Amino acid sequence: MTGIELRHVRKQFGATVAVEDLNLVVRAGEFLSLLGPSGCGKTTTLRMVAGLEYPDKGDILINEQRINDIPVHRRNFGMVFQDHALFPHKTAYDNIAFGLKYRQVERADIERRVRRALDIVRLPNVGDRLPRDLSGGQQQRVALARAIVIEPDLLLFDEPLSALDANLREEMRVELKRIHHTLAITAIYVTHDQAEALSMSDRVVLMRDGRIEQQGTPDELYRKPASEFSARFFGQVNDVSATVIAAADNGCRVKLDGGPEVDIAGIRANTGEPIKLFLRAERAQIGLSFPNEPGFATFEGTITTCDYLGVLTRYVVDVAGVSFVVLQSAAGSVLRPRDRVTVRIPSDAWMKF
Ligand SMILES: Nc1ncnc2c1ncn2[C@@H]1O[C@H](COP(=O)(O)OP(=O)(O)OP(=O)(O)O)[C@@H](O)[C@H]1O
Ligand SMILES: [Mg+2]
Repeated sequence: MTGIELRHVRKQFGATVAVEDLNLVVRAGEFLSLLGPSGCGKTTTLRMVAGLEYPDKGDILINEQRINDIPVHRRNFGMVFQDHALFPHKTAYDNIAFGLKYRQVERADIERRVRRALDIVRLPNVGDRLPRDLSGGQQQRVALARAIVIEPDLLLFDEPLSALDANLREEMRVELKRIHHTLAITAIYVTHDQAEALSMSDRVVLMRDGRIEQQGTPDELYRKPASEFSARFFGQVNDVSATVIAAADNGCRVKLDGGPEVDIAGIRANTGEPIKLFLRAERAQIGLSFPNEPGFATFEGTITTCDYLGVLTRYVVDVAGVSFVVLQSAAGSVLRPRDRVTVRIPSDAWMKF
């Protein structure tokens, strides 16, 4: 298995700096996502790894060997893109076999390997079909089979599921993870979809303006965002201005601007300091009442809006002039706009950057 490393990599197009001083280690066998908003440099980074772009500065290394000057066709990498670019006049079989013929693999071996790749992507019976006679999801599986049939050292994905509809996308996420697990190949997966990155990756690298904003396991990024940008990237976040009224080693008591006082765990601040606090919408709860429990703050409020989103409902609750967005399961809920409710917030749910 092969890992890959980027050291101080930079790429500029005209006046646009697409990637700046990027340092990244992808461990052997790891599934790593490059995540971030449009234009943050994900594709450019992946294309430099692939050998489709040449870095202006820095090194790309495999097993400590610099590969900057190794051309794309001599890097043994499998690639799958959003636009899968299958040859339209070749059958699925011939599309998959193409890379092997090019590598002058023997005929009998080609047959065996293409059949196996089709089995792995669970399309054993479509080898004879042309791409136009396959569904979008099946075409994407053929593209994946074509990438894995060469037994690549590295699999590179650029938004491979973004052209598929939501249900199929979820099914393919599971499928891709299964295949990655089966083959144990190092994979770099570019996406701007946080759910995709969190659900599939061993590690997520969040990018912003050509640089790495934060990297870690999905759980670390979600639970311990290092910046407001990171926090906001994963779901909906409330921000509330407050003033510290009492500070302690393990937390503080604050007064929310225009709202109630609340005890906050795990945040250090100075008495009298104005601070900005962040709270994930799904960490607040609302209900008609809650038992009094240590470790939670409760406030009375009034629901102003309810948006039914399917699995969850998004409530906006006014608490003494401060609006809180709360996401919670709608199952069995009878809550409606103008209802008086209690908002309950765990004291360790607040974040400060
Ligand atoms: N060939 C190019 N010529 C000029 N500018 C480019 C080129 N390729 C990328 N850029 C610019 O570099 C920046 C990073 O682009 P890149 O395609 O890497 O972003 P991305 O993170 O993949 O975005 P998206 O999520 O929209 O695919 C953007 O500002 C883009 O316009
Ligand atoms: Mg891109």
